[in-house]
Amino acid sequence: MSLFPNYSRFELSFVKGEGPYLYTAEGKRYLDFASGIGVTNLGHCHPRVSEALKNQVDQLWHVSNLFHIRQQEEAAELLCHYSHFDAAFFCNSGAEANEAAIKLARKWGHEARWIEEPKIITFTKSFHGRTLATITATGQDKVKQGFGPLPAGFITVPYQDLEQLKKVFGSQVVAVFLELVQGEGGVRPFDYQFVHELTAWCKEKNILLIVDEVQTGMGRTGELFAFQNYDIQPDIITLAKGLGNGIPVGAMLATEKLTPYLGPGTHGSTFGGNPLAMATTKAVIEEMIQPSFLPEVKEKGKFLFQTLQEEVSCLEGVKEIRGLGLMVGIELNRPVLPLIKELLQEGLICVSAGENVLRLLPPLIVTEAQIKEAVNLIRKVLDPTRQHVLI
Ligand SMILES: Cc1ncc(COP(=O)(O)O)c(C=O)c1O
Repeated sequence: MSLFPNYSRFELSFVKGEGPYLYTAEGKRYLDFASGIGVTNLGHCHPRVSEALKNQVDQLWHVSNLFHIRQQEEAAELLCHYSHFDAAFFCNSGAEANEAAIKLARKWGHEARWIEEPKIITFTKSFHGRTLATITATGQDKVKQGFGPLPAGFITVPYQDLEQLKKVFGSQVVAVFLELVQGEGGVRPFDYQFVHELTAWCKEKNILLIVDEVQTGMGRTGELFAFQNYDIQPDIITLAKGLGNGIPVGAMLATEKLTPYLGPGTHGSTFGGNPLAMATTKAVIEEMIQPSFLPEVKEKGKFLFQTLQEEVSCLEGVKEIRGLGLMVGIELNRPVLPLIKELLQEGLICVSAGENVLRLLPPLIVTEAQIKEAVNLIRKVLDPTRQHVLI
């Protein structure tokens, strides 16, 4: 195969997707509780999104950011209207959105605070992407190995440790950068109180709070953005994954005080915010802001969590079930890969988060019946007597 071997893939491929289901060429149906790692939040081929994309395909694909792009301005207005932010920058991926946030924080540090070597504090177990700056920001050594020299300007402190964070703080620090629910690191939500103390401390020290919402954004946690569950107002957030429901789109949103620091010529992206991506993004947002959409996601999140507590938490080897909204992790006392393979055989697609955590990221349009079906399958493959039978 003429591809780099950088992914370890399952021996499986799909030819069609519809709502929460994926189909193989042989017609076998799978219930998709991974959503392409938190991307197809509205399910596969959502009618409103597909229609918006089809209409745009016949109108205009790409013009570059040398020109005004109406769809980009409208998508930005929607994102700002449903948050406290004042400006959006569009790009193509989560890592690229995080790069933009890092650059903006540094620029603000240099020009507003006269800081010569700006530093950004991040947390262990975090994941922020695969570019050089974002692997450096990521609090997991495995993503950095072999890629040195890495850029300077990042300090990683232990997960949820405010004391340590205060200890490493110095005059060069410009920002704290975190995922409110760490995704790749094991589906770990930060405590409400910790987040409040951190936010207040950032304000006191006049440093920026940057929230990586690449995985938690776009309805995943039951609010449009995860920070809205925590009643805080970060200075910057980054988005990608669910923003385009499968069309590659990333975004950085920031408050008014920061917008002047990305003036003309300071930053850009050839493809970022092109009409094709923006027509799709607009349709995704318009669907998610329907009055009943997010309350229903919250209800379904509660139902998933409760059903897992009742049916799965008591099973041998299950250490903890945690999460927020429809982003749930089941931590086992052993590697989850064999379990994921068994679930695939049963027709359920899940993904891991680290070695021992089974991560559930169902599409937000999932039904209670489909949640029950998935939980039953998880219960079935975790049943110790079944493992005995398989041996
Ligand atoms: C929280 C978070 N940030 C950033 C990224 C990187 O996004 P991308 O793969 O689109 O560059 C991911 C991807 O999993 C993520 O989960």
